[in-house]
Amino acid sequence: MTAPRTLRLHRLTWEGPGVLALDLTDPDGGMLPGFAPGAHIDLHLPDGLVRQYSLCGDPAVQGSWRIAVREVGGGRASGFIHRALRPGALLRAAGPRNTFPLLPAPHYLFLAGGIGITPLLPMLRAARDAGATRTLWFCARSTAEAPLLAEARACAGTLCVHAAAEGTRLDVAAALAVPRPDTLLYCCGPAPLMLAVEQATRHWPAGSVRFEWFVPRPQDAAGAAGSFEVACARAGLTCSVPAGRSVLDTLLAAGLDLPFSCTQGVCGSCETRVLEGAVDHRDSILSEAERAANASMMICVSHARGPRLVLDL
Ligand code: FES
Repeated sequence: MTAPRTLRLHRLTWEGPGVLALDLTDPDGGMLPGFAPGAHIDLHLPDGLVRQYSLCGDPAVQGSWRIAVREVGGGRASGFIHRALRPGALLRAAGPRNTFPLLPAPHYLFLAGGIGITPLLPMLRAARDAGATRTLWFCARSTAEAPLLAEARACAGTLCVHAAAEGTRLDVAAALAVPRPDTLLYCCGPAPLMLAVEQATRHWPAGSVRFEWFVPRPQDAAGAAGSFEVACARAGLTCSVPAGRSVLDTLLAAGLDLPFSCTQGVCGSCETRVLEGAVDHRDSILSEAERAANASMMICVSHARGPRLVLDL
């Protein structure tokens, strides 16, 4: 994982009710690392808060990263950003990291719920530049409350705003009942929308529907872990992971220096290669196919299905 760098808040702009966009630059005027559509950064805020925000600006614009933050009632991070930050402030951020890459396809269906438009905006631009067809279904309470709508409109081929307050709420099950040929569906939004899309697309071709979770995906109740053994092949270390403790915490306590950030299975920074043993995946990143492949796991939340795991650590 890249070490956090210092950034200057160059500009703050309102991009919808309760949504602020932050343009971040290098304080010395240098370039920032490039990013691919779907990437996010880890913003390090006072009090040790670390939050992931999707980069929603144009990857072609070098030297500036753009994120957008919706103020959430009671949210410490968004409250700080909305109330305390002013242009010129210095912030720390790590990344970019991409757990939601845009794969090539002739047709795309993008499905955004509110601030979930942020990772999809660079995708819409890239898909437009690649000559792909782009349909965006943008769900919001009202059209006026759909953040970054003008930008979305500028790069979506077909845009439908589904506004619950205007009687145009999206019927997810009906809209997705028939899989679209040669189409990749990218979805980001609140959990009820994501779960509805997940449910409605179970019969779509494997790998054709992709999600970005801002918060941990609700997990199945089954699979609560008992204790198991974890062996770190390169470090030559074996530890017992007690029930209720994460692999990450166990290995950190044993003295390993490991990358991590969210500790909730949403950022991907702790992803670790699995050499032996079956994993009970509890993250919000890996697809069904990736889970079945059992090649890697997020050690902050996932456990063993059996008595032992061997990791490439
Ligand atoms: S620390 Fe973020 S996924 Fe594990």
